[in-house]
Amino acid sequence: MKKKFKFKKSVKVIFFLLVLSALCYFSYNFFANNSDVTNGDKESENSDATVDKLTKLGFSNGDITLLKQYLSESELNLIDIYDENVVNFVSNSYFEIDNLERYISYMNDNDYDADEVVTYVNVGIDKPFYTDVKTISDPDNILVLCNKYNVLPSDYEPDDLTQVGYSGIYMRKEAAENMYQMVLAAQSDGLKINLVSGYRSYDYQVDLYARHVRERGEAEADRVSARAGHSEHQTGLAMDLSNDWSLEKYFEDTELFKWLSENDYKYGFILRYPKDKEYITGYDYEPWHYRYVGVEVATVIHNEDITYEEYVMKYLSN
Ligand code: DAL
Ligand code: ZN
Repeated sequence: MKKKFKFKKSVKVIFFLLVLSALCYFSYNFFANNSDVTNGDKESENSDATVDKLTKLGFSNGDITLLKQYLSESELNLIDIYDENVVNFVSNSYFEIDNLERYISYMNDNDYDADEVVTYVNVGIDKPFYTDVKTISDPDNILVLCNKYNVLPSDYEPDDLTQVGYSGIYMRKEAAENMYQMVLAAQSDGLKINLVSGYRSYDYQVDLYARHVRERGEAEADRVSARAGHSEHQTGLAMDLSNDWSLEKYFEDTELFKWLSENDYKYGFILRYPKDKEYITGYDYEPWHYRYVGVEVATVIHNEDITYEEYVMKYLSN
């Protein structure tokens, strides 16, 4: 008797629980669907307003479909100017909406295609050299970008300066060790690398730049010499190499230069100021100036045949 009673009671409890779960399930779905409808409505309203705005600016339906393919709703909302090239800029994977106006004006002032414009504006070369200069916050980073837009603190001096072999010339430890290995490798291939200039202090660069200005005037000096704080030599990661101790263009015609072109990246070095890239690097061709960035990065730069500025834009900026 007691057992039967217990059995009946548990059937009731199970039934009650089933009804309760069904109620929960249906009410959850009801509210979830309703709120989806509300969000969906809102989204399509926003999207309609964005399409209206873009149409009024002058974009065609085809342009808008393409823009929508590459940009988020909030990015689309930031477009407040029409230009026929916008559709070409957005398909570049490095496109940054904040740079849109700069892309448009750089495109209008130059003969570059849309991809080049996105690259160069992201690198920052649409602004004149030595304008919009930022102080480098992590000068000890091996991948530091030191150029005409990024300046080292005047009191920066690496704390791991190490002599390369017994040369009396110093670099950061990692760079010095790799440079030494490169010197030995060249030597075993019958080539002598002369180390001409490695680490240079801020004060040294002040005098060096001033000497160049005295000798050739400021405009020419700026093509061959960095202003103090802007020289990679202050990072302890750069070295000027020579076959005969001079630093001249004819170095590019030497066996040593050919060897370096084929082997520098294996030791983590790159040719920092390549031929015909002055508009990006800010300096005339320097076949002698090598910069340590580590083997991995140097290999990418070697394979893609790009400048360090382009590497930083492609791989290191957000
Ligand atoms: N000649 C290079 C650009 C320097 O002065 O650092
Ligand atoms: Zn140099």
